[in-house]
This record gives sequence, C-alpha cells and structure tokens, in this order.
Amino acid sequence: MSSTGRRRNDRKDKSGWWRCEAGRRRHGLWMMVVKTKDYPTSVIQMSPFRWITWQECYTDLGVLYWQLNPKDYENDEELKKIREARGYNYMDLLDLCPEKVANYEEKLKNFYTEHIHADEEIRYCLEGSGYFDIRDKGDRWIRIWIRAGDLIVLPAGIYHRFTLDTSNYVKLMRLFVGEPVWTPYNRPQEDHPARTKYVKSLAEKVGTALEAY
Ligand SMILES: [Fe+2]
Repeated sequence: MSSTGRRRNDRKDKSGWWRCEAGRRRHGLWMMVVKTKDYPTSVIQMSPFRWITWQECYTDLGVLYWQLNPKDYENDEELKKIREARGYNYMDLLDLCPEKVANYEEKLKNFYTEHIHADEEIRYCLEGSGYFDIRDKGDRWIRIWIRAGDLIVLPAGIYHRFTLDTSNYVKLMRLFVGEPVWTPYNRPQEDHPARTKYVKSLAEKVGTALEAY
C-alpha cells in the first residue's frame, strides 16, 4: 500500500475519488491547508500536497469514518449497528443553508471558529457537502471534505471547525450519547479535561487496529 492508502489497481472515478477494484471508496479527499481564514469555502493545498488516509486519521488522531448508504438511512442496518455499538441513542437532522437557518451567517461563523467539545462530534452527511477541518499532531489543519454517505466521529477534545463548501448546502444527521450537548469551547482550551484527556491519548497512541472504514 502506498502512503496514500491507494493500491495498484485503484481507479479514480469521475468525481475524483479513488476506488478499489470492488468500487469501494479508498479514502476521502483529505488535504492539508495552509490558509483558510479568508477563504472558508475554498481548498488551498499545502505544498507539497499530501493525501491522508482515514486509517491514518484513526491511528494518529482517533477520528472514525464509515461510508454508508445515505438514501436508506432510516432502515440502514449498518447504521443501526454503529449506533448500538457506540451508544448513539440520540439523533436529529440538520439542514444547513441560508434559506433554512435563522442567523445563518452568525451560525456559520461560530462553526468556523476553532473549538473543542467535551464529547464526540458525530456527523453523518445525508445530502450536500461541507468541510471539517481538524488539527493534526503538528497543529496543522487537515481539511476533510464530507459528502453524502460519510459518517465521521471526531473525538472529544480535538480542535476542529466546520464550514460549507461552494454548494452552500448540507444535510447532516447528528448523533449523540444521551441528552445532546453542543457547547463549543473556543481555543485555547489546553486545561479543559476533554483536551487534556485527548492529548494524553495521542501520546499513548490512539489505536492500532482500525475498527471503522
Ligand atoms: Fe464542533
């Protein structure tokens, strides 16, 4: 396997995703960005450009990823299994676009302010697309382009932010364990218990076996 996670017989589809011979998407369009402050909906690539695999993100940063069928989310057995296994008993749907959200600009500004949560942030993209930016171990941004079918779990304590891309629309399923708490704690939060626990887990290596993807 190459450092990108691709194998010799992988092919790029029309949308730019690498797929294995069986058609499964090999990894997301992940990239490092050097500057996004002034261009929240654009991708600015680090030079040299580097792909990052979901596996690396799990092993290095504790981020989980599944690719599911967004058209059948109400009856999806795989989603049910994930929810049961991880205790995600709360679920709601969020339509993010200027027409459907009050104080849209302000909300987006808050989402795009770097923050952590005391709990996991679990988002399943059902329609549209958007960007999650997360910090790697070297405090560099990794931009995750989520599209329909992508379920990601950001661990508690990881610095991150979210914005829409130029499509300006995303429909997200939000999952949670118990009563949801969406409180963001804006950076710096080095003394927050979730942050200290997360940093410690990175030092101890988050995981060695991939349970998602
Ligand atoms: Fe968040």
